[in-house]
Amino acid sequence: MPHSGSMPLVSNTARPLAGRCRVPGDKSISHRALILGALAVGRTRVTGLLEGEDVLRTAAAVARLGAGVTRGDDAVWTVKGVGVGGWSEPDDVLDLGNSGTGARLLMGAVATQPFTSVFTGDASLRRRPMGRVATPRGEMGARFLGRDGGRLPMTVIGAQNPLPIAYRLPVPSAQVKSAVLLAGLNAPGETVVEEPLPTRDHSERLLRHFGASVLVEPLNDGGRRIRLEGQPELAGADLVVPGDPSAAAFLAVAALIVPGSEIVIEGVGMNPLRAGLYATLREMGADIAYENERVEGGEPVADLVVRASRLKGVGVPAERAPSMIDEYPILAVAAAFAEGQTVMHGLAELRVKESDRLAAIAQGLAACGATATIAGDTLAVAGKGAPAGGGKIEARLDHRIAMAFLVLGMAAAKPVRIDDGATIATSFPGFASLMNGLGAAIAEDGP
Ligand code: S3P
Repeated sequence: MPHSGSMPLVSNTARPLAGRCRVPGDKSISHRALILGALAVGRTRVTGLLEGEDVLRTAAAVARLGAGVTRGDDAVWTVKGVGVGGWSEPDDVLDLGNSGTGARLLMGAVATQPFTSVFTGDASLRRRPMGRVATPRGEMGARFLGRDGGRLPMTVIGAQNPLPIAYRLPVPSAQVKSAVLLAGLNAPGETVVEEPLPTRDHSERLLRHFGASVLVEPLNDGGRRIRLEGQPELAGADLVVPGDPSAAAFLAVAALIVPGSEIVIEGVGMNPLRAGLYATLREMGADIAYENERVEGGEPVADLVVRASRLKGVGVPAERAPSMIDEYPILAVAAAFAEGQTVMHGLAELRVKESDRLAAIAQGLAACGATATIAGDTLAVAGKGAPAGGGKIEARLDHRIAMAFLVLGMAAAKPVRIDDGATIATSFPGFASLMNGLGAAIAEDGP
């Protein structure tokens, strides 16, 4: 049922997409830049910060915790940090809106600071499991009091005498890894995190950028061990945020499936631990070229040239899931336009994203005339050329479900409607107008 403030949208058949564009700054890096800037001593200037609602919530939260956060007229953000251990008790609840990353990373950072804070979020975030960040932080001396199932609202009583820990992540999660590392910053000695599969390493890269000592060792089982020296003196540092590969994914797939399209997406972050979708699409036969490959702000970046392509179904191994964990909704749409079946393994984590994405994908595809089946944590999409479209999709407060099905509508014969596109602004402000500028026909849907 639509909630107040919901924004129904309709996506009609697009004309061939053409043009050059840029996507907003990387969401993961934007959150981390603000949090680490607030934990460093002195001034951090961030160019290209994602000005989506999720990141703005994190900016407001670090300001409540004692940092100075301002936006210049040139859209450069300045953070005046107060040092590791220098945050102070917030005078109100920290409301992270729709943002799991903001909530989990901040709950890590405050866990080893000696004050109490209370976290909450929107209906989607309040349904998501937070126990996964509370458990390791409990071992460091913090106390967490949440709702049943470890859900928000949750009170964090920061440790008076924090202890460093060695922790093996039960699930591959960059948010949990980062939360432990951020907590470890204010513990004496070495904090060690082991991950069963490598996940995005923006925290490790940025911690080093701000002056922390972070060592990364490969493990024999394919995972990684990260060692962080506690209580470093972090120094404010300028940085440039690359374009978000998870936002670019929607443009890239749209250009692949709308016949006759050719677009260039400039300045997209191509960190290998984020680029799994692009490898998969290329295996499916996608014509995606990388131009002007360079390094910006410590991250590999490229311009992507994407041309409409005939796609074929492939198998996507479970080991690849962490490097494309947010891209399954849009990959499933690409798969529905392919010839042959695409089978995606190792998707258990999709059940606890902004929505139960496995269910949302299967239901949405069925409503648009495509077939998807779920068996355990495997999703199979039967590709039979273009599905008819015509579905009415429940977006479930999930920006990526909303965007994925708007993209499906661009290449289908019948329009696709979504009940609410308001959450798109959490990660991709200006999505519909950018798409429409390239050739899409996305509009607000009347009653
Ligand atoms: C993120 C990690 C992933 C991802 C999320 C952003 C991050 O979550 O889905 O959108 O910035 O660390 P998990 O850690 O839950 O896999």
